[in-house]
Amino acid sequence: MLTMKKEIAAALADGIAKLGAPTVPEAAEIAAMLEYPPEESMGDLALPCFKLSRTLRRAPVQIAAALADALADVACVQKAEAVNGYLNITIAGQYLLDRVLADIFAKGEKYGASDMGKGKTVVLDYSSPNVAKPFHIGHLGTTVIGHSLKKLHEFAGYGCVGINYLGDWGTQFGKLIVAYKKWGNREMIEQGGIDKLVELYVQINNAISGNEEKCIPADPALGDEARAEFHKLEQGDEENLALWRWFIDISLAEYEKTYKQLGIEFDSYKGESFYTDKMPAQVQKLRDQGLLKIDDGASIVDLEPYGMPPCLILKRDGSTLYPTRDIAAAVYRKETYDFDKAIYVTSAGQSLHFAQWFKVVELMGYEWFDQLVHVPYGTVSINGAKLATRTGNVVLLKDLFKAAIDEVAAIMEQKNPNIENKAEVAEAVGVGAIVFYYLSNSRIKDINFVMEDALNFDGNTGPYVQYTYARTCAVLRKAGEDEGGTLKITAPEEGTLLKTLARFPEKVLSAIADYEPSVITRYILEVAAAFNRFYHSCPILGSEDADVRATRVAITRAANIVLGNAFPLICLKKMEKI
Ligand code: ARG
Repeated sequence: MLTMKKEIAAALADGIAKLGAPTVPEAAEIAAMLEYPPEESMGDLALPCFKLSRTLRRAPVQIAAALADALADVACVQKAEAVNGYLNITIAGQYLLDRVLADIFAKGEKYGASDMGKGKTVVLDYSSPNVAKPFHIGHLGTTVIGHSLKKLHEFAGYGCVGINYLGDWGTQFGKLIVAYKKWGNREMIEQGGIDKLVELYVQINNAISGNEEKCIPADPALGDEARAEFHKLEQGDEENLALWRWFIDISLAEYEKTYKQLGIEFDSYKGESFYTDKMPAQVQKLRDQGLLKIDDGASIVDLEPYGMPPCLILKRDGSTLYPTRDIAAAVYRKETYDFDKAIYVTSAGQSLHFAQWFKVVELMGYEWFDQLVHVPYGTVSINGAKLATRTGNVVLLKDLFKAAIDEVAAIMEQKNPNIENKAEVAEAVGVGAIVFYYLSNSRIKDINFVMEDALNFDGNTGPYVQYTYARTCAVLRKAGEDEGGTLKITAPEEGTLLKTLARFPEKVLSAIADYEPSVITRYILEVAAAFNRFYHSCPILGSEDADVRATRVAITRAANIVLGNAFPLICLKKMEKI
């Protein structure tokens, strides 16, 4: 649609000039004014003429009528009609067929891609679970939104660095070491893996703070012990360091399984611990610049002039904090990758944290402060229950995936028991269902997870779109080699599908501009709906006329390419057979 918009906009610019406008908007500006009408009967594109009416000193209705004439000779326009101050434009079917198909086939896997980000680097910080704490469904957002944004930026030509900023440092390790020494042993962890670690972590938290429900009295002395063990770790105590590394390895091995199911790989696993020796220089810089204030023994940066609470840099005992580490990490990443943009994907609960330390970076005089972007997302609950992190009352991501995979396997057993690589398909469809359901919503919205809805093969779901993709593959398998023929449009469903396919490149740009993978998810649904309508009303392989058959096979191939290019952008695997 972008090329068509350009052609139309150029003719409109001429038309506007002829109407005697004192200043004529640039063609690009006019192209941006073109809207997609809400209903197909209103055409494929529309130009609202209300804004123009001020400069042209004419009624919008008159302008629309005059501009309709200006489009008379534009190749891609079949019809231009003035309706109530809008200029409604219908694209010629044959044009769509020739140009859109040619474009999709010529670009293939690159259809939808661009070179907008050529020579630019984007660093994305996402997933970043806290080791030893549960990797729960609250992390689904950062993991899949983060990875989708990476894929989208890569598709737009950016060089991308995906960073898993593991929470691999902090007092939780002191707690875990105490718990392990008290209640654990090597064998138990080797067998139980991360689940056992989390169990120990939950147990020690309950023991320190007490748990009324479970009649566990609070034992603050254990908290002191934990702090002492962490202090030993910080001082480089061999035994504690070895335990710490081991805990991380066990956790990472487990995360890897989940990432593999999602098709996610990271370029860097430099976690919080990596920045320990990089913080003092930044703290010193803050001090030298006179930005640090002592407040009740702690060192802070006052952000009152900016309407925010102070940013905590050092605790009373001199230990560093979450923002301190983030500042040091950002400086390191700028020096290492020379990024043009650094994206951080976390829950909206951390928005203040990011706003605060972004401001501190600005006050420190780093001129790249405005390249830092926080991308927040809403909360996830399961059938209404919010997820707690500490008490053990959480839904783990891997359990959610497993439940979906098991259910899909059972459905497949009924529907299609003879399918090859059953396990692989069940995993792709089960995990895909969850990801798709999650990414169907605008990221900032709080969502309630309903498994039945996510897995509904007939709803607007992952299984439905994956099934649609497999359907395009089946048609193409049966169609065999292209036989050629004169392509011609004979049914409205063909045109609608082509127009939908033509919008993919714009959707990619808009998903990037808004950091919003749901744009792609919803677009995939539009393509699936248009394809299925086409599939049900237009016989493809069964059509008598060789040209009609060739046209429909070509359109199916185009839909297959677009869906195939779009799926990986939202962590969805494509299966040729389901
Ligand atoms: N580990 C943190 C958490 O689970 C998220 C880290 C986000 N990234 C960052 N640079 N602060 O809450």
